[in-house]
Amino acid sequence: MIRFLLNDQDVNEENCAPDTTVLEYLRTKVEQRGTKEGCASGDCGACTVVLAEATNGQLRYQTVNSCITLLGSLHGKQLLTVEHLKEQGALHPVQQAMVDLHGSQCGFCTPGFIMSLFALYKNCDQPTRADVENALAGNLCRCTGYRPIIDAALSLAGKGASDIFTKSEASTYLRLTGILKQHPSGFIEHGARRFLIPTNGDELLAQLQRFPDAKLVAGSTDLSLSITQQLQQPETLIYSGRVQELMQIEESASTLKIGAAVTYSAMQSSLHKYFISFADMLERLGSLQVRNQGTLGGNVANASPIGDTPPVLLALDATIHVRSPNGRETFPINTFFTGYRQTKLPASGFIESIEIPLQPECQLYVYKISKRLDDDISAVCAAFSIALKDGKVNDVRLGFGGMAATPARALNAEQALIGQSFTEQGILAAQKALAEDFSPIDDVRASGAYRLKVAQNLLLRAVLEQDNPTQEALEVVQYA
Ligand SMILES: Cc1cc2nc3c(=O)[nH]c(=O)nc-3n(C[C@H](O)[C@H](O)[C@H](O)COP(=O)(O)OP(=O)(O)OC[C@H]3O[C@@H](n4cnc5c(N)ncnc54)[C@H](O)[C@@H]3O)c2cc1C
Ligand code: FES
Ligand code: FES
Repeated sequence: MIRFLLNDQDVNEENCAPDTTVLEYLRTKVEQRGTKEGCASGDCGACTVVLAEATNGQLRYQTVNSCITLLGSLHGKQLLTVEHLKEQGALHPVQQAMVDLHGSQCGFCTPGFIMSLFALYKNCDQPTRADVENALAGNLCRCTGYRPIIDAALSLAGKGASDIFTKSEASTYLRLTGILKQHPSGFIEHGARRFLIPTNGDELLAQLQRFPDAKLVAGSTDLSLSITQQLQQPETLIYSGRVQELMQIEESASTLKIGAAVTYSAMQSSLHKYFISFADMLERLGSLQVRNQGTLGGNVANASPIGDTPPVLLALDATIHVRSPNGRETFPINTFFTGYRQTKLPASGFIESIEIPLQPECQLYVYKISKRLDDDISAVCAAFSIALKDGKVNDVRLGFGGMAATPARALNAEQALIGQSFTEQGILAAQKALAEDFSPIDDVRASGAYRLKVAQNLLLRAVLEQDNPTQEALEVVQYA
C-alpha cells in the first residue's frame, strides 16, 4: 500500500498498475480534471502539480510534471493541484493575480502556470524577473502571451506567502512524517505487476535480484517516456527515491559525493559551492519541473550521448560507485560508458553515488549549446577542466556530449594541449585534433560539421573567458 495526502485528504492506494502516472490518476481515478494533458512527455507544463514533502523540519513545495510522475512515488508526500488552491470560495492570491492582470488566455495551459506560480509564491517572497522566468521556463504558452503571466507573478512580490497552506503547515508536516514513520516502505500492485518502494540499499538489492527484469526508477523523467510515448507496460518497477543511502550528499576536504537518487534541484547548492559553471549549466537542464524530479544517477545510468552531466563528470574525473550481487565496485567515469546507451553496470546492480574530486588547481568551463536557451536538449555539451603551471597547460580533461555515440573525452585534443599556453595560438593544434577525436553525426539538432565547429570554438571561448570570469561580454543576452 502507498499513503499520501491529496490536498488535506488521506489516501491509501494499493490496487493500481505500477505505471499509473499521477496525471492519469487525477483525471481518471479521482476525476479531478483541472490538471491538463498537453504533451504527455514532460515538455509543456500543462500538467504541472505541486508536491509538498517534509524535509528538515519544514514543508518543501516543488513543481513536477504529473504526466511523467509515477503514482507510487507519491508515498509520504502531499499532492496539490489547481483544484485545491481556493479558500472558502475565494481565489488563491496567485489565481487572483492571474485574473487581475489578464494572465489566463487559452485557459488550457493556465492550471499548469498557476501551479508553477503557486510553488514560486510558497518558496520566494521577493521573486525577481529571473526567478519568475526560471519558474515558468517549463510552462509553454503557445499563444506567446507570457507578458501578463510574468506581470501577475511579479505583482505578488512582497505580498507575503501566507495562505491556507501556511495555516495547516505544521499539521501537514506531522501527518507526512507520521505516514513515513508508520510505513517507511510501500508498494502498489495490479495482478502480476508491481511498484516497490525499498528504503535501503540491502532491500533494493534483494528486490532487484528477486525480480531480474525489474526496472529501477528514480525521477522517472526518462523512464516514463517509455510508458507514455512507447506504451510499454513494465511488470516491476523499483523506486530509488526512498533509499536512504542514495539520497545523501557528502562533502569532504577532497571530494563531493552525490547519491544517485539526489535530484538536480537538491544538488544545486553543493555544486554552486565547488563548481559554479556546472551549477549554472544545470539551470538550463530541462525545466524546473524536470530538475525537481530528475536525478544525477538517472542521467549517468541513461548513458545518453546528449545527456548534460556526463561531459562535466568526465572533465571532473568522477568515480561511479556501483552495488550489485558482485558486491561494491567503482568505475572511473571514462571507463563507464561502453556504447550507445550502454554502461558497465552489472545485472541487478545500481549506482549508489557519484564522487567528484575537488581540484582547486583546475579551472572548470562548462557550455551547453542548444537551439533554445531553456528546456532544450543539447546539440553539443562541453566541459573543460584545465590546470596551468607557469603559464602552460599542465593537466587537462575535455568532456563532450553530442559528438559521439557516448559521452566521451577528447584524448587527442587533450594531448595536443599539454605543455601549450592556454591562448588563441596555444589551442590551435588541439582544435585541429578534435577532428581526430570525433566524427559527429547530422541529426535534427545539428549537423556534424556544425557540432565540430562549435566544439572547436568552445575551446576558444574558454581561452577568452579565463580573464573575464563574469562572462558578460560573451553572454548572448538578446535573440533576434
Ligand atoms: C522535458 C524533459 C527535458 C529534459 N531535458 C534534459 C536536458 O536538458 N539534459 C539532460 O541531460 N537530460 C534531459 N532530460 C532527460 C532526463 O531528465 C535525465 O536523463 C534524467 O537525469 C534522468 O533521471 P531520472 O531520475 O528521471 O531517471 P529515470 O527516468 O528514473 O531513469 C532513467 C534510467 O536510469 C536508470 N536508473 C535510474 N537510477 C539509477 C541508479 N541509481 N542506478 C542504475 N540505474 C538507474 C533507470 O533504470 C532508467 O533506465 C529531459 C527530460 C525531459 C522529460
Ligand atoms: S502534459 Fe506536457 S508536460 Fe505533462
Ligand atoms: S495562454 Fe495558454 S497557450 Fe498561451
